[in-house]
Amino acid sequence: MSTAITVFKGDGIGPEITDAVLRILDAAGADLSYEIFNVGAAEYEAHGALIPEEGFASFERTHVLLKSPITTPIGKGFRSLNVTLRKKYDLYANLRPAKSNAAVKMPFENVDIVIFRENTEDLYAGVEEMIDADTAHSIKIITRKCSERIFRAAFDYAVAQGRKKVTCVNKANIMKLSDGLFLDVFREVAKEYPQIVAEDKLVDNVCMQLVMNPNQFDVIVTENLYGDILSDLCSGLIGGLGLMPSSNLGADFAMFEAVHGSAPDIAGKGIANPTAFLWSACMLLEHIGKNDAAARIRCAVDEVLTEGKCLTPDLGGTGMTREYEAAIIARL
Ligand code: NAI
Repeated sequence: MSTAITVFKGDGIGPEITDAVLRILDAAGADLSYEIFNVGAAEYEAHGALIPEEGFASFERTHVLLKSPITTPIGKGFRSLNVTLRKKYDLYANLRPAKSNAAVKMPFENVDIVIFRENTEDLYAGVEEMIDADTAHSIKIITRKCSERIFRAAFDYAVAQGRKKVTCVNKANIMKLSDGLFLDVFREVAKEYPQIVAEDKLVDNVCMQLVMNPNQFDVIVTENLYGDILSDLCSGLIGGLGLMPSSNLGADFAMFEAVHGSAPDIAGKGIANPTAFLWSACMLLEHIGKNDAAARIRCAVDEVLTEGKCLTPDLGGTGMTREYEAAIIARL
């Protein structure tokens, strides 16, 4: 039976990669129906809302959202729509897999790290104030409740996926209260999972370790800001942002998006790599039980990457998004 999903088109490269991914989903026989909405600054200028009310209503009906990137103004302007969606629907677990692909040659092979990023608090809670004209405060919020549930999500995933180790990344030597609480809760929750190795490391050390010996890491669980930064770093280990998908999971709702942003530097040129967004769509298919369609797409992507004929420029090729998409559809 056809399953309805909500799709937000975003801006920058968002519309290009969305169109490519929806055509690939159809070619794979995913049997989805799409409720598609334009979101972001252009939508605001045209209709006065960053996300139309019907867009929220659709997500509340389907419970599943495929969201392409949205530009967030830097230093001023509206609050990030991504942060807004994660908070509004309590999408507390941001799962970001960084897995090497044999076809994309990088200094390290067999990187296979899954980052669990707490998605609702930390400095991203957006609690900021000007104390005077020359002093700004940004409040870092860490709670037992939100820490507990992200640790459980990470350990449950590790158990379900046969993973061996969970590393809690923190800076509790300096932020003794906030990161200290995060680390204390990690150690408590870890005791419930004796079959999984639990370790903790400071975030600065982890940055160095990741670029020296990434294969030592398995599942990483961390706060919102560290998770955001570390996942871009990990994408660099596997071939760049064009290859890193993500899911944002809560108790009732799930949102799937690429880790990358709207890439304004290449928007409209027809050269965006749609793979990260396509793999995010595969995670969505797996979330709703359409594993066969997801497997077909993953297999076709692997073949096209291995063949290497129409890779997009970020992967060292000269291919266009449409050529890459056509090659995947041909395989399907
Ligand atoms: P970005 O991720 O958009 O781009 C960083 C670099 O990676 C650029 O050189 C870009 O061309 C390249 N890149 C990214 N995705 C690519 C793809 N699919 N194919 C080929 N190359 C790709 O990060 P940036 O430039 O810092 O942010 C641009 C805008 O995106 C900002 O407004 C930011 O707030 C927003 N953003 C939105 C996100 C979301 O909607 N989930 C996530 C991250 C950033």
